[in-house]
Amino acid sequence: MKYRLEIMRQKDSTSEPYLQCIDYETDDCNTAVSTALSQINNNGNYKDINGNIVSHISWECSCLQKKCGACAMVINSKPRLACDTKLSECNINGVVKIEPLKKFPVVSDLTVDRSIMFENLKAINAWLSSEYRSDDKTNNTAYISSRCLQCGCCLEVCPNFYAGSEFFGTSVLAPMSRVITLSENEDLKAASKLYKKNYYSGCGKSLACKDVCPAKIDVDDLLVNSNAAAVWRIGFGKKKR
Ligand code: SF4
Ligand code: SF4
Ligand code: FES
Repeated sequence: MKYRLEIMRQKDSTSEPYLQCIDYETDDCNTAVSTALSQINNNGNYKDINGNIVSHISWECSCLQKKCGACAMVINSKPRLACDTKLSECNINGVVKIEPLKKFPVVSDLTVDRSIMFENLKAINAWLSSEYRSDDKTNNTAYISSRCLQCGCCLEVCPNFYAGSEFFGTSVLAPMSRVITLSENEDLKAASKLYKKNYYSGCGKSLACKDVCPAKIDVDDLLVNSNAAAVWRIGFGKKKR
């Protein structure tokens, strides 16, 4: 199988981006985008369609098993994990366009600086400050929340998220839902206040983020549970479970 990879290149954060087209061939219908990028980098002799040697393509990965979220990028207009995207399934007439996530500053090529996500996690105190144990009623939400990879795919499609906004998007909803579901009393009140300010007030509930989440997080379930605990029940001063 032959594919034309159209890769958005950018030497560094101040350089002009450009599209480099590379013809890539594989016999394996399971070849992932991550495999193609690795092979091109490891080979070192690939040429683009204009005959230029392809310099090392910068991109991030760690687990290569859909577990870490590092390899998130835009593949044929959709944010996806490169290690979980087969060329045979994502191409359009043999063409696979590969771009960096656009909601974050480009460091080089397909590598972006996602530190705003971690700054936002710190801003909403996305951790339990006391010891709380989940039970039969909270296990499911705690489990769903824990599956978030912090990849940023949800932010890519969210119409309301941009860097610097008070609205932090679904990458904070997931960990925040765990905090809200498990905590009580003053901890719950503090978490609820931040949840309302940094998520509830800005979310349009379109669930576009759910459609692209590689971890298949049930965003609507988290929303319902978190809203019930943080927005409605907290108003009566008591959390009911
Ligand atoms: S909610 Fe899904 S898309 Fe968003 S950061 Fe977590 S795993 Fe990625
Ligand atoms: S439901 Fe819509 S507005 Fe809310 S986080 Fe998801 S994409 Fe953004
Ligand atoms: S490298 Fe970890 S999710 Fe792709």
